[in-house]
Amino acid sequence: MAYEAFARKYRPKNFEQIIGQEAVVKTLKNAIDMDRISHAYIFAGSRGLGKTTISRILTKSLNCEKGITSRPCGQCENCLEIDKGSFPDMYEIDAASNRGIDDIRALRDNVNYAPIKGRYKVYIIDEAHMLTREAFNALLKTLEEPPPHNIFILATTELHKIPDTIRSRCQTFIFKPPTINQIKEYLKRILENENIEYEEEALELLVQASEGGVRDSASLLDQAVTFGKGKVTVKAVEELLGLIPVTVINNFMKKLKEKDIKEMIKITEKLDSEGYDLSVFWKQINDEIHRSLVKISLGESSEIFSKEDIQDLIYIQTVFSKALLEGRTFSNPKNVYQLAILKLRYIKNLVSLKELYEKGIPVSTGSIKEPKEEKQSKKEEFDLQTAILRIGREAGGIVSAILKKAAIKETEDQIVITVEKNLTDTLQEKIDILNKYFPKPVKIEGKEVKQERKTKKRDEAVDKVLELFKGKIISYKEE
Ligand SMILES: Nc1ncnc2c1ncn2[C@@H]1O[C@H](COP(=O)(O)OP(=O)(O)OP(=O)(O)O)[C@@H](O)[C@H]1O
Ligand SMILES: [Mg+2]
Ligand SMILES: [Zn+2]
Repeated sequence: MAYEAFARKYRPKNFEQIIGQEAVVKTLKNAIDMDRISHAYIFAGSRGLGKTTISRILTKSLNCEKGITSRPCGQCENCLEIDKGSFPDMYEIDAASNRGIDDIRALRDNVNYAPIKGRYKVYIIDEAHMLTREAFNALLKTLEEPPPHNIFILATTELHKIPDTIRSRCQTFIFKPPTINQIKEYLKRILENENIEYEEEALELLVQASEGGVRDSASLLDQAVTFGKGKVTVKAVEELLGLIPVTVINNFMKKLKEKDIKEMIKITEKLDSEGYDLSVFWKQINDEIHRSLVKISLGESSEIFSKEDIQDLIYIQTVFSKALLEGRTFSNPKNVYQLAILKLRYIKNLVSLKELYEKGIPVSTGSIKEPKEEKQSKKEEFDLQTAILRIGREAGGIVSAILKKAAIKETEDQIVITVEKNLTDTLQEKIDILNKYFPKPVKIEGKEVKQERKTKKRDEAVDKVLELFKGKIISYKEE
């Protein structure tokens, strides 16, 4: 028998086999069982999340010979034909190649005929956003007064390109990527079914690489099986994806914890000389740091870092993720990454908020006096470091870096955050986010910077960099 790709072979045949999309599945099942099916739907979401798959299951639900049901039998002729894509009342139209008004006119004529075999004719218009304006207008007329027994499903990866007039006449479902664990379980099910050996960590890598796409994860799995000669190993997956070996990543993370800058630089040099893509490496390191931060803030400890490292990690994350962005615009990003590593020298100069607090400098923590009941729970949960971490995640690393250095004071009715004058705007832009995470309204104040001290400090840093890279200054940028 010809080889069938996993993504096809394991296309869900009923709602129960769908992973993720809980809201979509639940709403559709209810609508079917309560006989409240809408005549027009928009299925929006990125590639390979199940838009076509669910369209077909819905078609089966409406046309199964056993009756309208959210659990179509999957055995009758209609169900089987729908699975194969040969059911005469299911029209799968690719709007990318049938985007003109004539195509829609043909469709408009078609809707007046009764179904051939089933109860409903279902039109699945794929990539619906590709339709021309005239085609949309023609479609609108049909959507306004649809003859009964016609269902339209507009599938699109770009919802914003569907005109409002169309959207307001359809029920819209947004398809979201399933969780990492859901995708992992899905891949495991395939592997167990196929009797293929695998390493757990290899699956982890595949899921990460597929970035939430279910089809992509299955296709990558296909390749990994071939590449690993019938076994899914970490080594094979790393090679397939061009990833840096986990051992190297772990080693780097250890050196990061020890702040062993020399060794970290060495690792980058070695990878570079071995021909690895350093931007892939840097991305992996950033992912690793992100994972550690999330773990720690959830109260777990990662393999290498623990709760005490959170301040450092936030700083590292800010510096490293900035380098990740900057690296994209350089033909040789190595220098950018190595500079980021060098910046870690200054970690020890950062004063921790905990220290500040212990020294008696007012930092808002749990000491809030307020009788109001509902505020109470918010207050009890409040923890400055966690708040900063969350704010950083939502508002960007720069904001958390600023907050870490800011003087944070609590008054009767507000939180006053004092930062260098030139940084106030950056915080002010994100005031909504700050207000969300602080227990009282936030006020931002600027203070003058003592010019001489600052210049001196920067010179030290610059000198070290110049020395290490045997470089020279070509331009100055005012902060
Ligand atoms: N939610 C899901 N649950 C289980 N498998 C899925 C899911 N989504 C996608 N798949 C797998 O991926 C394959 C492709 O899915 P489908 O064709 O439904 O995606 P799509 O959203 O229509 O993508 P596109 O935008 O590229 O048309 C399916 O055959 C199936 O194997
Ligand atoms: Mg599709
Ligand atoms: Zn059936």
